[in-house]
Amino acid sequence: MSDREIEEPLEELEVLEELEEIEEIEELEAAAESGEFEESSTHESPLLSSTFLRDLARSYEKNPAPLAIMDRELDFIYQNPGFRLLARDYRYNSSSSFPAIFTRCFAADELRKITADLMDPATSYTWKATISHKTMDTPVKVTHLLVQPLWPVEEASRSPTAYSVLLDDVTAENRESLRGTFSSLLEASKLKDNDTGLHIERVNLYSALLTQRLYLDPRWPEVDVDFVEDIGFLAAMHDVGKIGTRDDVLNKAGPLSASEWDEMKEHTINGAYILSSYPNPMAKQIALSHHEWWNGSGYPYTLVGADIPLAARIVTIADVYDALRMKRSYKAAFTHEDSMTEIAEGKGIHFDAELVDVFLTIEAGFEEIFETNADR
Ligand SMILES: [Fe+2]
Ligand SMILES: [Fe+2]
Repeated sequence: MSDREIEEPLEELEVLEELEEIEEIEELEAAAESGEFEESSTHESPLLSSTFLRDLARSYEKNPAPLAIMDRELDFIYQNPGFRLLARDYRYNSSSSFPAIFTRCFAADELRKITADLMDPATSYTWKATISHKTMDTPVKVTHLLVQPLWPVEEASRSPTAYSVLLDDVTAENRESLRGTFSSLLEASKLKDNDTGLHIERVNLYSALLTQRLYLDPRWPEVDVDFVEDIGFLAAMHDVGKIGTRDDVLNKAGPLSASEWDEMKEHTINGAYILSSYPNPMAKQIALSHHEWWNGSGYPYTLVGADIPLAARIVTIADVYDALRMKRSYKAAFTHEDSMTEIAEGKGIHFDAELVDVFLTIEAGFEEIFETNADR
């Protein structure tokens, strides 16, 4: 979900002006704030005297999917409970106009096209789209939107008298198919990587834990419910680029030569390339920047401070903590206390100082995750 859908785009104003509805919408919004529209979203339209439309509205009433009916001016004449719930959860304004309600889901030119298409026999008076619904504290919901013409039998009209509006929630299937693809990729990369066992699952858990604390803190406004959910899945992807690193470099027991080290570092760029098709930029940010250090001494691009994406700064702490705790061929396992001290000493040097402070308030949670998910 992009910021574009959270913030109201400037184009919205243009559209509203075109529709000459600003005053009306302000009145409606004020009414909504005062709770006037809590229960009723159906305005009395003469169209509802049509038996066909009345029966259709009745059949929509018990359907859990968001469904509505609007007139040819694209004003809603009926919204079922599922539709009203969606509008409330995602804080759409309480206007009765389709373009005004969904204005933040579409660019201005798309909204103009909807209006044109719904009047056009060439498109069968139909409109299809996929919309993401989003607020700071509600998880993203992805719906297919279908607007279809209705031709009440009583009306001998050459153009539709009304339209049905159907919203089909496809969030779960979208997420499942996307995650399925990337989980397979992760399984393939695990076959190569010498970070065995549950390391990547633990990095997911630490990252989610740290991020949950940030969600509660206004200093990190970019952390919303989706950020927490996404990082808990995507942190594991940090080393997926190692799938492109030669085995003899990846598994070399002794120190790496300069050229081998250069090749090793490329796993960040390879990972970003592999994950570039993932729709959420967080995946790419984590793969690319999880070895950047706060003071600019990391790789691949020696980014400094807040130029390193927040998700990557979080995963860096999670990844380093777990790497310290693990026994490697070249080092013994650190205790929790020693790992904690190591991270505290890297505050403002390797790690974002504010994140280290948060880490130090929840370090016991890190220890618990390591102990309960220890490699067997
Ligand atoms: Fe890495
Ligand atoms: Fe790692």
